[in-house]
Formats: sequence, C-alpha cells, structure tokens
Amino acid sequence: MSSSVKIAVCPGSYDPVTNGHLDIIRRAAKIFDKLVVGVVGNAPRKAGHLFTPEERVGLIEEALQQNGVSNVEVQIFRTLLVEFARDCGATAIVKGLRAISDFEYEFEMNQLNRQLADDIESVFILASPGYSFIRSSGVKEIAAFGGDVSELVPPHVASALSERAQRD
Ligand code: PNS
Repeated sequence: MSSSVKIAVCPGSYDPVTNGHLDIIRRAAKIFDKLVVGVVGNAPRKAGHLFTPEERVGLIEEALQQNGVSNVEVQIFRTLLVEFARDCGATAIVKGLRAISDFEYEFEMNQLNRQLADDIESVFILASPGYSFIRSSGVKEIAAFGGDVSELVPPHVASALSERAQRD
C-alpha cells in the first residue's frame, strides 16, 4: 500500500458498540482512506467487560455491514495503542469526544501517546448532538435492568445485551 494512503485507527473497548461509536466511525471513515477499528483485547470479563473481544468485534462488523461502510476493518489489539497504530500503518488515532468530561482523560492519553510516538497524531471528532450522552456503561446498565436500549444501539446489539442479561 502506498504511503500516500491515509490510515487511522479508532480504538476503544466497544463493550458493546453504540450508535455514538458508529457515528464517529462513519464520520472518520469519510476523512481517511482506511480506518481500522481497534478493539482492546482483554481476558473475558476482566475490568467488567460484558462481551469478549471476539464478540465485540462481531457486533461491530455486523453493524458496519448494515451501514455499507467499506473502508473500515476491525481488529483486536493487545499492545500499546501506538504500536497497534504503527502495525496498521496508521498515522492518526481517532477518538470521539462527547463532552468536556471526556476532554481531561483524552488530553492525558494524547500526551502519553505523543510521548511514546510523536509522529502519530490524535484527531478528535465531536459527537453529534443526538449521541453526546451515549456511553457503553450506561447502555449496559439500562439493559441489565430490562430497559429499552433500542435508540442507543443497533438492533442486533440490543438483542445481544438482552440475551446476556437473561443469561446472567
Ligand atoms: O473505550 P475506552 O475504554 O475509552 O478505550 C480506551 C483505550 C482502549 C483507547 C485505551 O485504554 C488504550 O489505548 N489502551 C491501550 C494501551 C495504551 O496504549 N494506553 C495508552 C498509553 S498509557
């Protein structure tokens, strides 16, 4: 692949992917030639994760197929983010910002990542107004109590959450 091809990674836990994530992914995919969604790998259930990394990848891939986004692929990574970005040939890390409360954390992550690799730029996309309140943890909590998450996640993710809530 030629070096003029602009590749970015869009990392996260995606436990599970929400409509807010998909908004950022779709918009980032229009800016870059190729976008690699990086799902941070972890031991199942570690750090309170509901879905395994493989399950999270499957949920994202199904959502992308439904949206007809073609220049996006999804990978699990178990390294530093900047190493993952390098492995992908990416020159940018894309993050979504929902509110001021996200800024402090993302500012710190940006400084750390720049310390590790100052040739990889972090690019921040502001959440669309309708998605600025959606976070995976909130979605999981609503679903665990049997609440309606149909406006917050794609239908297949809502089904996976409901199935998981009934199982646990
Ligand atoms: O969706 P999240 O949980 O906010 O995503 C966090 C993520 C995966 C982007 C972050 O934890 C990460 O980059 N992990 C990889 C390890 C790393 O490189 N950390 C940053 C430098 S200390």
